[in-house]
Amino acid sequence: MDLKILQNQSKKELESAKSLKELDVIFRKYLGKNGELTQLLRSLGSLSHIEQKTIGKKANELRNVLQMWFEERKSELQQQEVREQESRERIDVTAPGKRLPKGHLHPLTQIQRKAQEIFQSMGFSVVEGPEIESEHYNFDALNIPADHPSRDMWDTFWLKPASAGLLLRTQTSPVQVRYMESHDPPLRIIVPGRIFRYEATDVSHEINFYQLEGLMVGGDVSVADFKAVIQEFYKMFFEKTVHIRLRPSYFPFTEPSFEVDMSCLLCSGKGCSGCGQSGWLEMMGAGMVHPNVFKAAGYIPGEWQGFAFGMGLDRLAMMKYKVNDIRLFYSGDLKFLEQF
Ligand code: FA5
Repeated sequence: MDLKILQNQSKKELESAKSLKELDVIFRKYLGKNGELTQLLRSLGSLSHIEQKTIGKKANELRNVLQMWFEERKSELQQQEVREQESRERIDVTAPGKRLPKGHLHPLTQIQRKAQEIFQSMGFSVVEGPEIESEHYNFDALNIPADHPSRDMWDTFWLKPASAGLLLRTQTSPVQVRYMESHDPPLRIIVPGRIFRYEATDVSHEINFYQLEGLMVGGDVSVADFKAVIQEFYKMFFEKTVHIRLRPSYFPFTEPSFEVDMSCLLCSGKGCSGCGQSGWLEMMGAGMVHPNVFKAAGYIPGEWQGFAFGMGLDRLAMMKYKVNDIRLFYSGDLKFLEQF
């Protein structure tokens, strides 16, 4: 091949090489073992002495020039690749940050806080009590003596040794007496907290759940006050008027006693699995504080009167969020929890 053509052609290809890989292919095409220029140099032996001198000189010069161009192009491409690599790795300090997923409060905590806020707006203070409770506060001081059949109303987790008389509280009511022992009326408190019952679970029963106790004591606090407070609470909580009914009941620590049912919001009172097909869900126990409870707290019976109630916070959450199985709250299932 004409050396001039070889020179022009190789120069053009070299300039158009876009990467070191492409350059290597071109290098081998001309200067590799079987490259075009290599073969030409190898064939010089078959030429006449004069031709060898003229063509050989030019061919060797071309080889040197080509090698020089290759080195130049190689360093250009190397620098270009370094620049590209750097720009790929460069940290763009102006780029917006990646958002980390944020958690949120458990739906039961949200419900508890909302309930607290409403009662606080009605002048109730928030009080707490221990989850490990003594037999005295959980039962005896609440007018439930050891031999009384009403103890069977609460299936209890007793702690060992039995002689210590300790248990996981079955209700938030013991805090009534604890508080009254150190505070004089008039008083208005609520006691939110976790309680425990040794019983079978189903769609509306857990062994570990939450209650919110209420206690209001004064000179002339009546059932009418209770009804007004509770109706106002539900109205503020559900942001609409909900139907409730007071059903006569029995608790050893209140007289009279009643249970408050709410028309089931899951089925609009028609009956569903969440409310046991009755259309009503039992939301709380309540009543007028029994004189023996006042006595246990050190008050003079007859001097004061008041109402008390204990509402199930889980049931409240079921109604608010239209959840038809209480056990979902404790399942730890993110698909469920992320909805709140
Ligand atoms: C009591 O625990 C009484 N201490 C309530 C009380 C307080 C009465 C003050 C009078 C004066 P009861 O066992 O019915 O009552 O429970 C109260 C509420 O807790 C029920 O109405 C219900 O809403 C809820 N509850 C009861 N058992 C469970 C359970 N296993 N799982 C979830 N919620 C429950």
